[in-house]
Amino acid sequence: GTRLPEIPLPKDIMKDWRNSSGIDLTDRETLMATAEAVNAVPFTPEGTDSVHADPHHPSGRSMASLDAARTSDDDVHSAITSAQAAYPAWDSRPVEERAAIMERYADLIEENRIELMGLIVKEAFRSIPDALGEIREAADFCRYYAHRARCDMALKELPGPTGEYNAMKLEGRGTWATIAPWNFPLAIFVGQNAAALVTGNTVVAKPAPQTPAIARRVVEIGHQAGIPEDAFKLVIGGADVGAELTGDNRIGGVAFTGSTNTARRIASTLLIDEERPIIPFIAETGGINAMIVDSTALPEQVAADVLTSSFRSAGQRCSALRLLIIQEDVADSMIEMLSGAMDVLSMGDPGDPSTDVGPVIDRDAYDKLMSYRETMRPRWIKTIEPPEEGLFVPPTMIGLDSIDDLTREWFGPLLHVTTWKAGKFKETIEQINAKGFGLTMGLHSRMQRSADVMRHLGRVGNLYVNRSMIGAVVGSQPFGGEGLSGTGPKAGGPHYLARFCAERAVSIDT
Ligand code: NAD
Ligand code: ALA
Repeated sequence: GTRLPEIPLPKDIMKDWRNSSGIDLTDRETLMATAEAVNAVPFTPEGTDSVHADPHHPSGRSMASLDAARTSDDDVHSAITSAQAAYPAWDSRPVEERAAIMERYADLIEENRIELMGLIVKEAFRSIPDALGEIREAADFCRYYAHRARCDMALKELPGPTGEYNAMKLEGRGTWATIAPWNFPLAIFVGQNAAALVTGNTVVAKPAPQTPAIARRVVEIGHQAGIPEDAFKLVIGGADVGAELTGDNRIGGVAFTGSTNTARRIASTLLIDEERPIIPFIAETGGINAMIVDSTALPEQVAADVLTSSFRSAGQRCSALRLLIIQEDVADSMIEMLSGAMDVLSMGDPGDPSTDVGPVIDRDAYDKLMSYRETMRPRWIKTIEPPEEGLFVPPTMIGLDSIDDLTREWFGPLLHVTTWKAGKFKETIEQINAKGFGLTMGLHSRMQRSADVMRHLGRVGNLYVNRSMIGAVVGSQPFGGEGLSGTGPKAGGPHYLARFCAERAVSIDT
């Protein structure tokens, strides 16, 4: 195979984060060499046969086929017991030691990037650029949280009258359950666990049942970096294993990323037992993310950003654009331009560097998306031809009469389009807010005032103006939503770690 060019990896978190993965995929030769190396990574799907990891196979991957790899209930409970026993020693290590281990973890993730990218492409069907993005984000999370832990976990002396000493400190809370989705099988999984661990907690981590191999490998790498094995335990399985884990009264906190419905289920589990301590619950969930386009926007830029926001990663990003709202006066020409741009999207294998839109994650997702898409057939504005067989949901633009007609998140490459009338900008934002989700919102406009109004009125965690709505960068675009989109913490932001900690104050009469 062709040798990959060596590019030094920036270590300083204040430098440009965007290429901390060290591979420049905009260079065609590098892209081809990376693809060759990534596609050569061996992968054996867990608890199933290779047919189920083939996105072209008509049966795709089914949840039933993954059950074989499930952790037993007894093993879930013993993982909690081990993690609890490991907590006092891990928590009492100086924060500097844990931070250094996290930085080593980032280095090792980068050193193993080709193998990890291979697993991401083959197990989660993500594209090569997406897989590289995950390496970058996972490493960024580790380095950023290491940096934040050094700042945030230092003892802070507080003012008081003469003769009184006051101080406060963040400390670990115990053993956290972390529960991750399949759509960022590396970055979100590593991010949750790095935050919990660097703050002195131990962890029992449950990845999504669709992506156990990625999790298994990156947990091993964590142990190699110096995280004690019992401080970072892995359990494998779906909803039942998640329920077993979150249902255990010894858990000191739950960090969850996934759908809004699952977040509700977990929240009710945490409250059901009167004997159970009240513990923190971090939920980062989905959204009905909208973008407003006005008549001053630059059409070519809108088209490029809309396609990226809606169809990249086959629309399987929580941040993805679901509802495009175009000012009536320019709607026809804008839609025509978008339709033309969709014609050049290529669908195909995730490992093929020319693929723009790959398969969706499994048969269940495929069936749900395709059946909804079919019911909307009379409203299709534009769609494209998928490859003949496999889990390929064609990117489709669907026209709606009103903003209110979209009432749930469709987690795939389906873009809904409607219009707004000049003079009704504020009302349009209010209508989006009224859906109750609050993850991402976008605006394309050359009017500064519109951006200001949206900043003021838009109830979302992440607002994007004149750019795409995906790809939040750790430390630059802290990411997370409110309302039905989550409990509010911003992953990759300066306040995230405190959510994993107990805050303890001491006052001494001297
Ligand atoms: P999901 O809710 O089906 O599953 C997420 C995780 O929860 C999985 O590990 C699953 O096994 C586990 N789980 C399911 N039921 C459980 C239960 N009763 N108790 C405990 N654990 C349980 O979500 P998904 O399909 O894996 O991921 C897609 C969803 O995630 C989308 O809604 C997307 O918007 C959301 N998401 C949000 C963010 C964010 O940062 N806000 C990021 C990525 C994905
Ligand atoms: N953080 C991810 C993005 O912004 C979800 O696309």
